[in-house]
Amino acid sequence: MKLGHWSLSQPLGNGYGRVAAVKRGRGVILASLITIDDLSNEDILAILDDAELLLPAAKGEVYLPLLQGKLLGNLFFEPSTRTRMSFEAAMKRLGGDVINLGDVSSSSVVKGETLYDTIRMVDGYVDIIAMRHPRQGAAQYASDSAEVPILNGGDGAGHHPTQTLLDLFTIRQAHGTIEGLNVALVGDLRFGRTVHSLSHALVRFGCSLTLISPDSLRMPSEIIDDLQALGATITQSENLKAAVPDADVIYMTRIQKERFPDEDEYQRVAGIFKLSAADLAPSKGGMIVMHPLPRVDEVAPDVDTTVHARYFEQAFNGVVTRMALICRLLGVAVPQNAGTNGGES
Ligand code: CP
Repeated sequence: MKLGHWSLSQPLGNGYGRVAAVKRGRGVILASLITIDDLSNEDILAILDDAELLLPAAKGEVYLPLLQGKLLGNLFFEPSTRTRMSFEAAMKRLGGDVINLGDVSSSSVVKGETLYDTIRMVDGYVDIIAMRHPRQGAAQYASDSAEVPILNGGDGAGHHPTQTLLDLFTIRQAHGTIEGLNVALVGDLRFGRTVHSLSHALVRFGCSLTLISPDSLRMPSEIIDDLQALGATITQSENLKAAVPDADVIYMTRIQKERFPDEDEYQRVAGIFKLSAADLAPSKGGMIVMHPLPRVDEVAPDVDTTVHARYFEQAFNGVVTRMALICRLLGVAVPQNAGTNGGES
């Protein structure tokens, strides 16, 4: 049986690949975030530092209207709970506002409107766009088409760089650093865009990676080549339990059912990794279990109450890191006293 997604067939536009040449000018062209390599290590650390300052505002403890008068366009052509809602929370916690494309089936996409036309139109409405699309490369295409910054909230099996920022923030909260850790990335490393982006960042910060997946869902060879060119220490394995004692971070991922061309192929690997509280017995005390969520059955509910579980804090960190990122791309400085008298209580 074939799987599929209706919006895979959404036309991008006639200008695909050439639109950069016809980009309109509205003064300064701001940068987008399409892959994590659009940010230097210094940029990443500065965003995490700003996110730290913004924690009280993200929790609603202070009101800090840094983004008053700014508007975010949320264009999600593929389902999302965390990414879409945390972008919205980030804007609203900082006094900004959000307009949503909403349910794609009630938009003009179903009349055949191209992505190019959609982007060219929405970028006249807003100051910045967060976008998710089922097609790999769509975020870059949108950025080439738009005047306002595009934040890639996931493009097919490609990249998910804003997830990487919240992942790194979560790791730094737990370990006090993102440098030199042993990180096990587990599950669907072939289609999982979160691990594609995160692996690049971790290697850039000198982490060692253990890549644990069934053979059919290994990390794509071009990503492995990139990581090795960065000097990565990588071990590939199918044995999750063997990786537990040495790991500082176990990053579980869902098998991405919607990306499989064939249901039978999915069924051969569904449920292949299941982490339970008992499996964590040999782990280091400070080891954390992360998951970008949603989970299916790869992390048992009994892990939630262990000292290792960090996935709900991780999801919250999507708000604070996206606040910091939006401020940066819109040229809004985060005050050092943002968490105290920088905001109105
Ligand atoms: N982590 C993540 O991208 O979740 P959503 O698919 O709910 O946005």
